[in-house]
Amino acid sequence: MIRPILKMGEPSLFEASAKVEEFGTPELRELIADMEDTMKAANGAGIAAPQIGVNLQVVIFGSDEINLRYPDAPVVPRTTLINPVIEPLDDEKEEGWEGCLSVPGMRGVVPRYTRIRYTGFDEQGQPIDREAEGFHARVVQHECDHLWGILYPMRIEDMSRFGYTSVLFPELDDADD
Ligand code: NI
Repeated sequence: MIRPILKMGEPSLFEASAKVEEFGTPELRELIADMEDTMKAANGAGIAAPQIGVNLQVVIFGSDEINLRYPDAPVVPRTTLINPVIEPLDDEKEEGWEGCLSVPGMRGVVPRYTRIRYTGFDEQGQPIDREAEGFHARVVQHECDHLWGILYPMRIEDMSRFGYTSVLFPELDDADD
């Protein structure tokens, strides 16, 4: 079911989310299905449970196909990640443009770790342990930030590179936000 996406300003988006205690439950399956429907309907590269009003540590990202909102981005494997932990593999950061379904119609340049290791669990409680870099690493850091109550504008260091998508990237198919 497509759920309404909470927008920046909503107090719950700034709260830390609780860990999932039980895996493989119908409630968890329904939450993930709703996140999937909502992400697809909005052409998102990822979505976090707090964005649909559920403050649990669940994110989904990737699509196994090209994303219309990020047409130049590499494909990121479709992943459900629960109770994640992110560890930078070194100190290097890189800048990149980000958008967020909770900050519709805007983009900004955000520094993120270039290379990370991320661990967590899938919806059945099976461990996930991966290394990622570049756009994949960026998406994971962006989505997991939602679980700590952080939205990407809070990470922007140069506010002159934050603005409306329609002005910055008029060529992008961004009608939905
Ligand atoms: Ni977001």
